Amino acid sequence: EHHPLTDTFGRHHTYLRISLTERCNLRCQYCMPEDGVKLTAKPHLLTTEEVIYLSELFVKVGVNKIRLTGGEPTVRKDLVNIIGALKQIPGLQEVTMTTNGLVLTRMLVALQRAGLDIINISLDTLKPSRYETMTRRRGWERVMAGIDLAVQLGYSPVKVNCVVMRGFNDDEICDFVELTKDRNLDIRFIEYMPFTGNKWNDKKMVPFDEMLKIIKSSYPHICALPNGPNDTSKAYHVPGFKGQVGFITSMSNHFCGTCNRLRITADGNLKVCLFGNSEISLRDAIRQRCSEDDLLAMIGAAVKRKKKQHAGMMNLSQMENRPMILIGG
Ligand code: GTP
Ligand code: 5AD
Ligand code: SF4
Repeated sequence: EHHPLTDTFGRHHTYLRISLTERCNLRCQYCMPEDGVKLTAKPHLLTTEEVIYLSELFVKVGVNKIRLTGGEPTVRKDLVNIIGALKQIPGLQEVTMTTNGLVLTRMLVALQRAGLDIINISLDTLKPSRYETMTRRRGWERVMAGIDLAVQLGYSPVKVNCVVMRGFNDDEICDFVELTKDRNLDIRFIEYMPFTGNKWNDKKMVPFDEMLKIIKSSYPHICALPNGPNDTSKAYHVPGFKGQVGFITSMSNHFCGTCNRLRITADGNLKVCLFGNSEISLRDAIRQRCSEDDLLAMIGAAVKRKKKQHAGMMNLSQMENRPMILIGG
């Protein structure tokens, strides 16, 4: 198989995640190192045109879904223009975004009008004071209002990402499940993952089986739903509830076998695995006027170096990688 986006394990990559910025208007402890990160100087970040050019190139060779990430994608000034331009690319079926939700009440109507198809919103606690502790900023009410607005505007379901950390929010799991009673939300409980500078340890990680046990003690009738072929989450549903819940089990039960994702960082590196630290600079290649064929050859070679699966939780916690804020999830 000589297709540039098919790896040596037969995984075909149709989903591209593009980080638009290294900046964020929050300081979540599991994402941003305490001392912050050294930001890439603006001239070394991908421009609007470069983001569009690379998107077109990847769509030409099979990508059909692009997710915009960050940092926080809404801090990028040209976000609405980028979404509009991506929607013009024939063959690109879904333009999606993962956001902390802080500014949605101000921006979501414009984003939707530009063509944003799907939105995932991060929210780790239902307690405003805990939100401040975790994010080192205020804003819980605005995020909740953003989630409600997304539902109102017809996003369905709205995915809510909740990173579960022992001793921080593991006592709120059932409260999150309860949110799905009357709202069409897909609450996804995420196992805490190790990244450079995030002080991860295995005791803070609450594994999937434990989360499910906690939920089953209050919702004994919760049942599994079928999953899509490349889903990160295992879906569940409480009978009678409007929404659903899911579990992203990267640590206790990884899904690398069905991985279909590639990533481009804000500074223009192609990253073939969230937990892989080998990267190539697409930015440098396009600025050196590399031909499309040469670019595709570079990309193909990088994809073929992709490992079968990540190195395992304890190895990952030792490994050099970017901090999460510089990857985008
Ligand atoms: P969908 O496109 O709606 O399926 O969302 P997603 O789960 O792919 O992306 P999202 O940005 O909402 O991320 C939710 C969680 O899944 C975050 O903790 C991500 O870091 C994690 N995640 C996303 N993609 C991958 C991946 O390829 N591998 C692993 N291990 N985790 C991932
Ligand atoms: N472990 C698991 N998920 C994380 N995210 C950020 N950092 C981590 C981590 N250390 C999540 C965010 C966001 C998504 C892009 O990744 O909460 O929802
Ligand atoms: Fe894909 Fe790497 Fe995530 Fe595994 S850890 S699912 S290979 S990106």
